[in-house]
Amino acid sequence: MGRMSKLCIGVLGSGSGSNMQSILDAIAAGRLAADVACVISDVPGARILERARTHQLPGVYIDPAPFKTKLDGMAEQCVIETLRAHGVDTVVLAGFMRMVKPGLLRAFPQRVVNIHPALLPAFPGMQAWEQALKHGAKVAGCTVHFVDEGMDTGPIIVQRVVPVHCDDTAASLHARIQEQEHQAYPEALQLLAEGRLRVEGRRVLVQSA
Ligand code: GRF
Repeated sequence: MGRMSKLCIGVLGSGSGSNMQSILDAIAAGRLAADVACVISDVPGARILERARTHQLPGVYIDPAPFKTKLDGMAEQCVIETLRAHGVDTVVLAGFMRMVKPGLLRAFPQRVVNIHPALLPAFPGMQAWEQALKHGAKVAGCTVHFVDEGMDTGPIIVQRVVPVHCDDTAASLHARIQEQEHQAYPEALQLLAEGRLRVEGRRVLVQSA
């Protein structure tokens, strides 16, 4: 079993930041040994930056131009420098709507994690809950995983399952999945803080406490 060490988290997000909120709540409740050192967004005025301000955390907008769908070039460099300047050791993607590239992954090896609103490897990509609904899946859920160079392909740390009801809308299913996300993300990060995760190929072995 590895050594317990408090995480120094940098959050990257583009939207509401409810997952970051669940991480802050878990830290405040003593369920997660971590500090959030900075919050970075590619969207000016994103709610996640407002949440950062509310918690007196540094919240930084970084202009992603000229790229539309990835974090690369100068913007990537700027993100890496900002994370380093805040002493970050763990990068948490929380609703970050861009592909991260090898530069960031090399700067934080095995230390970039993401949450995806589906049971990977099913339904990678956008609006995953809607994909599950349209496909007629009877269960859906969320996945916390290490990030690699693919789209939602990295080794899986934690998954949680929810039922799909026949009267579900995309919104009702997404809300049910998000409830589980808010538990799964802090839980996965706590396993990382406790040094209990070992990656062997595609598999993440969780060592007992
Ligand atoms: C979540 O559904 C997450 O799975 C996906 O983007 C959404 C972010 O929501 N990657 P929030 O910004 O954390 O509220």
